[in-house]
Amino acid sequence: MDFIKLESERLWFREYRMEDFYVFYDMLSNIENIKYRSSEPKNEDDVHGYIEWGINCANQKPCINYRYAVVLKDTGETIGSCELAFTDKDPAELAWELHRYYWKQGYGTEIGQTLLRLGFDILGLRRIIADCNTLNIGSYKIMEKIGMRREAHYIKYCRGNSALNYEWCDKYLYAILQEEYFAMRKRSFQ
Ligand SMILES: CC(C)(COP(=O)(O)OP(=O)(O)OC[C@H]1O[C@@H](n2cnc3c(N)ncnc32)[C@H](O)[C@@H]1OP(=O)(O)O)[C@@H](O)C(=O)NCCC(=O)NCCS
Repeated sequence: MDFIKLESERLWFREYRMEDFYVFYDMLSNIENIKYRSSEPKNEDDVHGYIEWGINCANQKPCINYRYAVVLKDTGETIGSCELAFTDKDPAELAWELHRYYWKQGYGTEIGQTLLRLGFDILGLRRIIADCNTLNIGSYKIMEKIGMRREAHYIKYCRGNSALNYEWCDKYLYAILQEEYFAMRKRSFQ
């Protein structure tokens, strides 16, 4: 299937555009915003490359990397990005990243729910996973709120970045099957 735009109650999900540069740069060059990535803050060239790559993702045929800029319906502001990506070999995986001004307002959960809808209702995927640094409470709480199960706790899996003093960090792996998703949705309608 080709790339498709999505929407939820408060959000639009569309392809990356160069006009997203300032928000993405402010997000990806800020150490607080990228604290739980293993990489360091990005510079302007990195962010240009990142946006170009995101634009190319939306042009894949068929699309295997549904990478979205997330936009507030009310104001038209871009507030972050997210993706559902898969290959023939790798399981489908979710990711999300919001500009710090928009944290803790339920947007992350709304993004997670929308990506599951894409994966299961639209693409008919069988299993979807997500992972995060075990220190990233906001991220794994999203996974739990949208119905994913913790399947693994990897100890000292990868090095944190400078914000975490390059310490070895643990990782959680979460997953959800299509049948679990449909059972959860059925329960929510009862
Ligand atoms: C992780 C992230 C996407 C969370 O998004 P968000 O919009 O704040 O999430 P929500 O508002 O939907 O919150 C989901 C739950 O997590 C909680 N939460 C969010 N951030 C938290 C934090 N820093 N510490 C503790 N709890 C947190 C919320 O209170 C909510 O729980 P509740 O419903 O019980 O109150 C956001 O913090 C972010 O973009 N961080 C930087 C990028 C990143 O780490 N991405 C994930 C990489 S795996």
